[in-house]
Amino acid sequence: MCGIVGFTGKLQAGPILLDGLSKLEYRGYDSAGVAVRDGSEDPVVVKAKGRLSVLSAKIDGGTAIPGTCGIGHTRWATHGEPTEQNAHPHVSEDFLVVGVHNGIIENYQELKEKLIGNGYTFYSETDTEVAVKLIDYYYKKYKVGPIDALAKTMVRVRGSYALAVMFRDYPGEIYAARKDSPLILGVSEEGCFLASDVPAILKYTRNVCYIDNLEMARLTADKFEVYDLNGDVVRKPVKEITWDAEAAEKGGFRHFMLKEIHEQPHAVEATVNSAVKPAAQAEGLEAAPEKVRENADELLEIDLSACGLTEEIVKTVSSIWMIACGSAYHVGLAASYVIEDLAQIPVRCELASEFRYRKLMPGPETMAVIISQSGETADTLAALRKAKSLGIRTLAIVNVVGSSIAREADHVFYTLAGPEIAVATTKAYSAQLAACDILAMYFAKVRGTIGAERLQELLQEIRKVPGKIEKVLEDKERIQWFASKFAHMNDAFLIGRGLDSAVCMEGSLKIKEISYIHSEAYAAGELKHGTISLVEPGTLAIGVATQPAIYEKTLSNMVELKSRGAYLMGLTVYGHYAMEDTAAFTVYVPKTDPLFTANLAVIPLQLLGYYLAVNRGEDVDKPRNLAKSVTVE
Ligand code: AGP
Repeated sequence: MCGIVGFTGKLQAGPILLDGLSKLEYRGYDSAGVAVRDGSEDPVVVKAKGRLSVLSAKIDGGTAIPGTCGIGHTRWATHGEPTEQNAHPHVSEDFLVVGVHNGIIENYQELKEKLIGNGYTFYSETDTEVAVKLIDYYYKKYKVGPIDALAKTMVRVRGSYALAVMFRDYPGEIYAARKDSPLILGVSEEGCFLASDVPAILKYTRNVCYIDNLEMARLTADKFEVYDLNGDVVRKPVKEITWDAEAAEKGGFRHFMLKEIHEQPHAVEATVNSAVKPAAQAEGLEAAPEKVRENADELLEIDLSACGLTEEIVKTVSSIWMIACGSAYHVGLAASYVIEDLAQIPVRCELASEFRYRKLMPGPETMAVIISQSGETADTLAALRKAKSLGIRTLAIVNVVGSSIAREADHVFYTLAGPEIAVATTKAYSAQLAACDILAMYFAKVRGTIGAERLQELLQEIRKVPGKIEKVLEDKERIQWFASKFAHMNDAFLIGRGLDSAVCMEGSLKIKEISYIHSEAYAAGELKHGTISLVEPGTLAIGVATQPAIYEKTLSNMVELKSRGAYLMGLTVYGHYAMEDTAAFTVYVPKTDPLFTANLAVIPLQLLGYYLAVNRGEDVDKPRNLAKSVTVE
């Protein structure tokens, strides 16, 4: 996600834009830019790679570019490296249209080809430049006003966007359009504002208006108007914001971690949509097996062209090494079960800090999958370099565009979780797991280990995972209550088998790293080989049992703990109500394909870790001794 700000009115726009962008840096900060107009002069566009301070220095805090109308942007790269060229604002020739964008234009490639066919050229790798030039195209071709040009663009574009645009022929005015990405308007005696989020304009006004999906706006110095897709004016209430600035940055959530836990449906959806798309019509639904046709409103396919992982390459892979640290390593553990089940390729999970010093014998066609949110973790980067020195093909699953690991890997699958501020990862973990699920399906399809019907079933189901995560989040008050009962415990054990054991590893880390409660994750069948001696009356034991084939086994391990006095929490799928005969407290997740339950079961454990830490008064977003990215050995 990115941050956008706009102002038009009686004050100089430059300083207002920079101030607003500084409040949105949590939304993205790899590059930034502004466009400011002085009367009917052409806009002056200034951009800079790096943090906002670099841009601010370039324009002397905004005072170097006079003008009372302008737009600004702070970028979290999704398409194209974080460079000055790719930074926003983007412009059409002769500055006819200048715009900034937050979101993802999913069909930007086809639109770019259409525009090239109409004589347009492009200077950047971004989807935003395509959007700006598409507006320019409609504005010129149909000789219409800004609102109509925007409306035609919105009808043609697929994806998400909050757009702020200036037209050379309309000095002093800013136009906006929104679908799925946030956008608010503000108004005061000094002028009109727009922004991705409230913190950007709270210093200037508390009177805001929320634009809804597929609506547009026109801002002038003294008022704004909102329009629907037909170009008809829509009356919108102006609301007063009562939040303070800090609370507003967290979107009203108490901590960034809780905000990011709630951003997971969007993070997973954006990541899935980047690779799971409506099938090329050449196949068509009629070609699909009967069971698929009756269940699918559209045929889906996997498109990994963005990371260059061709079917030819996949066919050569005979084994996979998943290499990462911390939570990213836990993603690899979970993914190993899914890949082995679907693609029947042997998978080995390696801690990056261990991998880099092991004597390894890669197979004839081993591929290393390097997982990292930051793309800068020293151990993981070193492991990537070692894998490459062994001549192994490398695929990175990374959340930060242009990061070291992304740049050095042979292939990159970007997760689209947006900036993750809390040290304890949640939305990036879930986005990485979804990316690995897609990888598993792709390998299985190419290797022919699953049929078309099973593939469509899985693709349809993974698109439902974001909605099912939402369902789990609706249960958070129960988990908050449970955490308050156990906030002062000293030990917690999490047990599970197969995919559930990987979930236990991540749940245990969440509890440990932010509440500082000692916690251990154990393969359920392993506990009796020693560690069970630690269990005392009242010890919290969490049994994760979502896998049908081994559900009963885990349940019996839970009974072993209960017979030694443990207090049992159960985590299973709706329908397995017998869990309540064993566990004192049970949390359910919605039914889904057993291979995707890890994507759901981790959520209650994230929430448990969070609420335990809050109950203990710990610094949730910045836990002691930890850093967001461990760039040292
Ligand atoms: C997880 O909550 C921690 N923040 C930590 O384990 C993290 O996953 C690990 O340091 C790896 O970081 P990376 O994904 O940026 O490489």
